[in-house]
Amino acid sequence: MPTPIVAPFPVTRLRRLRRTPALRALTTEVNLTPSNLIWPIFVTEIEGGAGEIASMPGVERLTLDGAKRAAETAMRLGIPAICIFPHSDPDLKTETCERAWDPDNIGNRAIRAIKEVAPDLAVMTDIALDPYNANGHDGLVRDGVILNDETVEALTRMAQAQAEAGADILGPSDMMDGRIGALRDMLESNGHKDVAILSYAAKYASGFYGPFRDAVGASGRLVGDKKTYQINPANRDEAMRCVARDLAEGADMVMVKPGLPYLDICRMVKDQFAAPTFAYQVSGEYAMLEGAIRNGWLSRDTVIESLLCFRRAGCDGILTYYAPQVAERLA
Ligand code: PBG
Repeated sequence: MPTPIVAPFPVTRLRRLRRTPALRALTTEVNLTPSNLIWPIFVTEIEGGAGEIASMPGVERLTLDGAKRAAETAMRLGIPAICIFPHSDPDLKTETCERAWDPDNIGNRAIRAIKEVAPDLAVMTDIALDPYNANGHDGLVRDGVILNDETVEALTRMAQAQAEAGADILGPSDMMDGRIGALRDMLESNGHKDVAILSYAAKYASGFYGPFRDAVGASGRLVGDKKTYQINPANRDEAMRCVARDLAEGADMVMVKPGLPYLDICRMVKDQFAAPTFAYQVSGEYAMLEGAIRNGWLSRDTVIESLLCFRRAGCDGILTYYAPQVAERLA
């Protein structure tokens, strides 16, 4: 970026343009609208599983009917996309994860239910084995090792079932190597060439996912951690290589995750690749903000500020649990 030329004070008084709301409006550099938002929702198949998530106050696990209502709300508020996360029956989680590609798993049922009531809403999925895995990992595990290539094959089946259920956007969040190319091939050869891939390309091994794992009922299960497949938070170059690789393999859009602590990565991705770039304001970020707001330590306006910062950092859109609340406030 060129260094801006600024004449010395008092020729330049930067406060001149901050003086009135009109002048501030005129000189606003980025904006935030509901069309920048993707709303992640949790859908449960467990009897009595619906209701508020303790570590994410204000966010609920939904029944299928609740998911339909959320889809209608999204349409009404101008939110273009919803992303489905399954809260699946613990008794049906296995080490082989075959429910991940069952056309009638809760994720796929939710896709079809939403498409019934809101065909114009873009439906995004999550591709990773963790909701259906007995050990809570995103991949298949043998002798404590996460198997890359076998997992990619399983993910491909999972993705096919989602595409067949009517998903518009597939969101591989598993961080296995080679998955984007494999998914793209599968889509091309199975009549789904127009299904988009939003790759969780720069996904870090983060503590900020804690509340999410509660939300999907994976917390107690995870054996070990996800550091052999998710990126080390100390690394930047590695994230750029992940994004380059995923775009080369056929991702249409890329994501940085988590969001706020990783805005430097968002900016680098946008500048280097000029591709549609998204960030995920994850569960732990939601919990921090909402916890402080509910304690009276932060004002609710801080939520809008946090989302605006993603836009300033170069993101085209943000996945956020605040999507409906913010869209309502922006209206
Ligand atoms: C799992 C997945 C995770 C999230 C989205 N997909 C958790 C993880 O990687 O352990 C986290 C989202 C959030 O924290 O809001 N494939």
